[in-house]
Amino acid sequence: MDQSSYQLKRYDLSEDRSLKPWSAADELLVQSFSDSEMTSSSIGIYGDRFGYLTCHLNEKNPTVVSIHKSEELAISANLKANNLPTIEFHHPITTLPTQMDEVYVKVPKSLDLFHLYLEHLADNSTDEVQVLCGFMTRHFTPAIIKIAEQYFEEVTQSKAVKKARLVYLRKKKSGTKQNIRKTISYNNQDFHQYWGVFSANHIDYATQFFIEHMDLSSQPEIVLDLASGNGVIAAEVQNQLPNSELHLMDDSFLAVASGQLNVRGENVHHHYHNDLSVFEDNSLDIIVSNPPFHFEHEINIQIPLALFKGCHRSLKVGGSLQLVANKHLNYKVHLDPLFAQVKILAQDEKFVVYACVK
Ligand SMILES: C[S@@+](CC[C@H](N)C(=O)[O-])C[C@H]1O[C@@H](n2cnc3c(N)ncnc32)[C@H](O)[C@@H]1O
Repeated sequence: MDQSSYQLKRYDLSEDRSLKPWSAADELLVQSFSDSEMTSSSIGIYGDRFGYLTCHLNEKNPTVVSIHKSEELAISANLKANNLPTIEFHHPITTLPTQMDEVYVKVPKSLDLFHLYLEHLADNSTDEVQVLCGFMTRHFTPAIIKIAEQYFEEVTQSKAVKKARLVYLRKKKSGTKQNIRKTISYNNQDFHQYWGVFSANHIDYATQFFIEHMDLSSQPEIVLDLASGNGVIAAEVQNQLPNSELHLMDDSFLAVASGQLNVRGENVHHHYHNDLSVFEDNSLDIIVSNPPFHFEHEINIQIPLALFKGCHRSLKVGGSLQLVANKHLNYKVHLDPLFAQVKILAQDEKFVVYACVK
């Protein structure tokens, strides 16, 4: 197969055009698909960030399992741009309509998420399923093999090609079912979260610092927890302001599903989305956030910066965006030109909490 036959773009919020929409690991997976002599009837794909695998394997009508809204939007845009048929997306906590017999996995940075992928594919595949997992060699850790061996008898590695490698999984084991949620206790509440959701072993320290210093004294009526993860910040907003209209939004399906376990109520709304287009201009009183700046193995502040613009648009005049950040990110430089006033609510040697007033 000619791997240059499709035109692909990243379609994310980043304006950095030097970042590529696929890696040598994706190329290796597609090469193996082309070389494969298998006559599979049902192919699955996990973790295809911008659609490279989905486009190249489209003739097989693959079952695509995704956890990010941004990924689903990028894959759909790339399919459309290449005149390929649209697809339906599936999530790794729901049963698939068909049992897969050949699966292509892009190994994610979060090993908990890799674990969840294998748990899900083990449950949604035939006994004869063959799995190919692709990754860049510099991201290899023996834990990839250890996790794979929990589900498959045969786990073998390919040679490296262009600094990428594959792990082949064959002979599925039986009786491997595990509980795919973790529980973290914080401030007298148990927070439940699916494997692969941010900060799995304890509430993030920046988040804890933020919760101690966010300022809800203006009694806001409509509040958004942007990039809400398991919903821990929103839960504190709900404690302090039980009558507010509370929105939680995250790009991760697993985060939104976790937030739904932890923050409930008549006035609570959960959004699976990657930008603020779901909110009208001048509609929110306060946005609270521990915003993202890591995306898989990339550090990319273009995405929070694009989110901040959306925050400014969605806030009422006089409303505020309150956020926590690592000091070295120096967000003040980017927030100052956008907002009427940027105050520092608290800081220590590592973190800073800003209140940005529109
Ligand atoms: C630093 S974590 C904070 C999670 C949670 N608020 C906490 O404090 O534990 C950032 C979150 O941003 C989410 N995220 C990444 N890109 C996003 C986007 N474009 N829109 C909304 N959420 C996004 C990630 O899925 C992750 O849950």
